[in-house]
Formats: sequence, structure tokens, C-alpha cells
Amino acid sequence: FFQTVASPPSSNFLLLGPSGAGKTAFTTLLEAKSSLASNKSHSTHTSQQSTLVTVTLPPTVPTGSNRYRSVNDPSLKEATRNPIKYRIKDTPGHGKLRASQGISELQTMTQSKDIKTRLRGVVFMVDTAALVDEATLRDTATYLHDVLLFLQKRAKNGSSSKRTTEVPVLVAANKQDLFTALPPGAVKEKLEAEIDRIRKSKTKGLLDASADTELEDEEEILGNDEQEAFSFKLLEHEVGVKVDVVGGAVKGDLQEEFGSGVRRWEEWVGMCL
Ligand code: GTP
Ligand code: MG
Repeated sequence: FFQTVASPPSSNFLLLGPSGAGKTAFTTLLEAKSSLASNKSHSTHTSQQSTLVTVTLPPTVPTGSNRYRSVNDPSLKEATRNPIKYRIKDTPGHGKLRASQGISELQTMTQSKDIKTRLRGVVFMVDTAALVDEATLRDTATYLHDVLLFLQKRAKNGSSSKRTTEVPVLVAANKQDLFTALPPGAVKEKLEAEIDRIRKSKTKGLLDASADTELEDEEEILGNDEQEAFSFKLLEHEVGVKVDVVGGAVKGDLQEEFGSGVRRWEEWVGMCL
């Protein structure tokens, strides 16, 4: 009776974010949680290549198609016996590798025609203890701006007959275990304000340039062209791309035994499935 329960092992997620945010640490933790055999924590180092890993969603995490699963629900037993698998692609965050890896993976994965392997969501990881540094904030916000602008262009170019599904973004506010970490609410405000600044300077650049030459219609501004300040809410309202900022920790006290520090990110993943 339950054997036809949909288990999409090929649902893909893309992991982006600046260097040192904890992407590989997160991927490694998910892998360790997925296999009972290996519990050793590997030491991470700066990644230079993207890697695709298959991991499992903890059975108690509800999925979008099974939102109100209770403990008595037979589908929970089924999920325990046959856990839902998904794939996550870890990318290198170094500034020099973003175009050739992170952004390029985003292009490839969003172009997939196969509904089963289509990109379900983007996890954009940030180091919340590092954002107090102006240069780090600027670098992080620039990368996120470019990711969101790509998703906006994709959303706007999708023909209305063949509706594309908007790809949601999770800003995983990592390293909440550190006492210097900014809380998720402050991370959201800082990123929004910084993206607004980037957007404004880009608009100004375009206006200056258009004084001599025709404005290239390829150049697009994130959100809308109004004077309104940028916010993730605005982006969702104007473009349909949803951004959530959720705190967590891959390492440290919050993790405890079962990696509860990443539970809320797994719940976000579950909602996309
Ligand atoms: P690139 O591969 O260069 O893009 O970086 P990355 O995002 O993969 O970062 P990585 O996973 O290598 O983590 C960088 C450092 O942050 C490592 O020393 C991790 O152990 C550490 N780290 C990751 N997550 C956490 C966390 O939640 N809390 C703390 N305190 N440290 C963390
Ligand atoms: Mg890495």
C-alpha cells in the first residue's frame, strides 16, 4: 500500500556563499548524519571544486507534500524505513571561482529540463560572526545580489505559457554558536541594506553611462526601479523569488548529538520537496 510513496532521490539543491561560511562543513555533517557507518568529522579546507552528495532527510522532518505528518501517521514509519533522499552541491566560495563554479552551476541546474532533477532551492550560507567586517559584508552581499539577480532574470524571462517555478533561497545564517555572531534578524537587515547600496550604485552607473550611449536593456536592477529601499519582501512581491533568513550552526554547542543546529535548514529543505 505504501510502496508508491514518492521518494525523489534526485531533487537537487545548490549550496552557495562566500569562502569560509561553512558550506563544506555543512555538507560533511549531512553526509555523516545520512550514513550510520561514518560518524567521523572530516576537517575542511578551502574548496576548489564543486561536489555533489546524496543525503537523507531525517524522517521526522515534514516535507512540503506531507506537511502535517503526526507521530502516529503511517507515512512516518514509511519515511523511517525509506528515508527521503536529496542531493546537495557544495561549491567553492572563493571570489575568483564564483563565476566559473557557483554562478555557473546555478545556470546549469536551473536549465535542467527534467522535472525530477530540477533545482528545488538554493542554500546561501553566510558566516554571521564575520559580517561585522565591512569588506566581508560587501563581498557577501555582492555574491547574494548576483545570485538573486540571476533568479530574477530567470523569473522574468520565463514564458507565461510554460511557467517556470521560482527557485527559493535560504540564507543559512551559520555559526550562531559563536558569541560574536549577529542574530538572523540583524543579518537580514544588514544584507538588505548592503544590497540596496549595491543596487543604488549600479543604477547610478547605468544612468551615467546612458548619458553618452543607449541604456542596454540587458542591464537590470534587482527588485524594482522605484526609489523604494530593497528588501527580500519586495523581491518576493515584485518577482516571486522567496528569500528566508534562518539561523543555525554546523559546529559548536548548538549541534549536540544529532546536529540540531541544522534542523531548521533541513525543515526548509523538506518544505521544498
Ligand atoms: P570554501 O570552501 O572556501 O568556500 O569555504 P566553506 O564555506 O566550505 O567553509 P568550510 O566548511 O571549509 O568552513 C570554514 C571554517 O568554518 C571551518 O574551520 C569550519 O570548521 C568552520 N565552521 C563551519 N561551521 C561552523 C559553525 O557553525 N560554527 C563554528 N564556530 N565554526 C564553523
Ligand atoms: Mg568548501
